[in-house]
Amino acid sequence: MREKVVVFTGAGVSAESGLRTFRDMGGYWREYSIESVASPEGWKAKPQAVLEFYNERRKAVLAASPNAAHVAISALEAQFDVVVITQNIDDLHERAGSTKVMHVHGEILKARSSVDPSLIYPLATPTLEMGQLCGHGSQLRPDVVWFGEPVRFMAEAAMAFASASKILTIGTSLSVYPAAGLVSEARPSAEKCLVAPEIDDPPPGHHFFRGKAARIVPHIASCWLEGRRPW
Ligand code: OAD
Repeated sequence: MREKVVVFTGAGVSAESGLRTFRDMGGYWREYSIESVASPEGWKAKPQAVLEFYNERRKAVLAASPNAAHVAISALEAQFDVVVITQNIDDLHERAGSTKVMHVHGEILKARSSVDPSLIYPLATPTLEMGQLCGHGSQLRPDVVWFGEPVRFMAEAAMAFASASKILTIGTSLSVYPAAGLVSEARPSAEKCLVAPEIDDPPPGHHFFRGKAARIVPHIASCWLEGRRPW
């Protein structure tokens, strides 16, 4: 049986691919309010503005490419049973070659019915416009999880954390729950690494690697592939 590895990612893993994070300088939540573009209330009040916000983000994702961190994560599959649990709505893990990716906050390259969350469509165009309807005749919205909505795959993600012997958490402020709470599902004996340029309070038992993902993640991945500790 192959050793189980969980890679848990946030916006910082895609920062060096040119995608904005949320809470850093230049992050989305420094420019937009969460209520206006990432809540059911914002959608109800100004759907056009919400579609425009995600149209811009979708264009940025389509123009971006995976960076060395995404590639190193996918390379771990050569030797380990790897599950990537991502808070990101981009598809850079998949494009780098990762085969098991759980998008707990949804996916920007999909649209969904605004009346039936189970009705999901791949988006063939970079933009989603008012008047594009689901099979029930209701407006399509981005297939992303907004504040106040249920986060996806939490039970499976918690099980993956609890059964992994190595956990690599990258580029997340660990400030949005319930996703951030997944790190506490890890076994005390699991080898746990956390990568970020800075973090206020690394969770207990984690080896903190201060720096950017594209430099540090390939180092950790190659150590694990060679059977060495990365610190
Ligand atoms: P944040 O913006 O909260 O945190 C990004 C983290 O990445 C910070 O700790 C940065 O220091 C770090 N970072 C920045 N550049 C990096 C780099 N090059 N390499 C490694 N780390 C880097 O983003 P998330 O934690 O992903 O949810 O945010 C969580 C959720 O909040 C998002 O999924 C989104 C947002 O609201 C929804 O929209 C539902």
